Amino acid sequence: MPTNELISSQDLRAIEKDLKRFIMVYRFGLDEVNTKINILNEEFQQIHDYNPIEHVKTRIKSPKSILSKVNRKNVEMSLEAIGENIRDIAGIRIVCSFVSDIYLVAGMIEKLESIKIIESKDYIKTPKPNGYQSLHMIIQVPVYLSDRVEETYVEVQIRTAGMDFWASLEHKIYYKYDGEIPKTLEDELRDAALKVSELDEKMEDLNKKVLEIKQHVSDNN
Ligand code: GTP
Ligand code: MG
Repeated sequence: MPTNELISSQDLRAIEKDLKRFIMVYRFGLDEVNTKINILNEEFQQIHDYNPIEHVKTRIKSPKSILSKVNRKNVEMSLEAIGENIRDIAGIRIVCSFVSDIYLVAGMIEKLESIKIIESKDYIKTPKPNGYQSLHMIIQVPVYLSDRVEETYVEVQIRTAGMDFWASLEHKIYYKYDGEIPKTLEDELRDAALKVSELDEKMEDLNKKVLEIKQHVSDNN
């Protein structure tokens, strides 16, 4: 008899309830981080008359993808082990106009007192072999529940619009080919990633020039 038939419906209901509560905590953590980032952006806009963030997207990993990652990474099947080892259940993606804004936003997040930076990976300074670029951070944010405080992991990805465009296309292609992208397409993707960073550099440069002209005009007025 398969093991799942040995679980009583009462036990199943209890497991489902635990799982819902477990995931709910990540939603709270994500809302918390999202609010903090919106405050930083609006405050920055007030002071400097400039928005470092284009847009923000949040997502909670589906139970199905959580379980497939648990299997892939050989994580023990307990909520405690899942909470400790799967650190991207809550994810937030911040899209900026310029590369300098990415580091500006990352710096502002690092300064937030209630947030702990657990890990940072700079795939902009060192892109992945396929060309992927982004700044990644795993952070921890406290969620205040009625009976306890849960430190929740949130994965933060900060990238330019160009990097985001590239990553979503690469993601689609990766799934279309089941992870086995043909060599020619792989080369073209890497080339497209280079073009993205060239364009990012060019836009940054242009923006600097425009800001200098603006400054010059205001100095002369
Ligand atoms: P997992 O990939 O989540 O198992 O963990 P990791 O330790 O390899 O983390 P990493 O920081 O490399 O990647 C985390 C997330 O970044 C992924 O889940 C994707 O959302 C994104 N990402 C990383 N590499 C790529 C890539 O090559 N292409 C695309 N499109 N997205 C990527
Ligand atoms: Mg990965």
